[in-house]
Amino acid sequence: MMKFFMSKKKGKTNPWLDIPWRDYEGHMSSPKVRQAQFLREIFRDALREYLPQTVAVLGCSTGNGFEHIDPSITRRVIGVDINPHYLEVLEHRYGAVKPGLELICADITGIELVSKSFDLIFCGLIFEYVDHGDLIKKISRWLKPNGMLVVVLQLARENSTKVSKTEYESLKVLEPIIRLVQPDELESVCSEVGLSETRMSIETLESEKAFYVGHFKKNHDRESDTHNRKRSRMT
Ligand SMILES: C[S@@+](CC[C@H](N)C(=O)[O-])C[C@H]1O[C@@H](n2cnc3c(N)ncnc32)[C@H](O)[C@@H]1O
Repeated sequence: MMKFFMSKKKGKTNPWLDIPWRDYEGHMSSPKVRQAQFLREIFRDALREYLPQTVAVLGCSTGNGFEHIDPSITRRVIGVDINPHYLEVLEHRYGAVKPGLELICADITGIELVSKSFDLIFCGLIFEYVDHGDLIKKISRWLKPNGMLVVVLQLARENSTKVSKTEYESLKVLEPIIRLVQPDELESVCSEVGLSETRMSIETLESEKAFYVGHFKKNHDRESDTHNRKRSRMT
């Protein structure tokens, strides 16, 4: 099932809408880049470690790694992406074989999901393209208590373009909009909204591009803790 929440506003459109899905996939999995393979493994490992019943993938593109979702464990998967063509490809590949798949075509910064509904939220290279502060606040609301957020951030590298150069010229539109987020900045925003880093690693690919991988656990709300303490005093 695919839902559309695209703004009809005139004016600048998001550059991601100008990148054909074949170019995107070709670029991300090209031998020079190999980020698709890397992100797929991080997502697969998170699914195996946390065995989530409910998952949201923000900036899910064409469904990289969705083959690792086990429907007998994960009953509901929400994928959000701004590019409708990427979601069409995802639906074509996985719609029939992954029951419980819901796709939302929207700017992630403009939507609201139901609070406390996810065991796992995966954000692989999306904070580079949105206001991460606002999005993290929402993610904290959307996670269940003890739910996990897994984030992949691209790290800055001297003398290198942020978007790798490949034969896929259409990806160049990202260079002016990509904004790298410092892991310290992410960690501090997360801790303000009740997300505690449980572990992190820095991974360097053959391309020499380096990435931060962070796992964050949603703390129990103080509000619900207080409520539970009051209840237990009453009983
Ligand atoms: C680098 S790709 C993500 C890679 C993917 N997470 C993976 O694991 O392979 C970034 C994705 O975010 C989507 N995107 C960028 N800005 C967005 C926004 N504001 N709202 C929703 N999706 C967005 C793009 O269309 C693209 O598919």
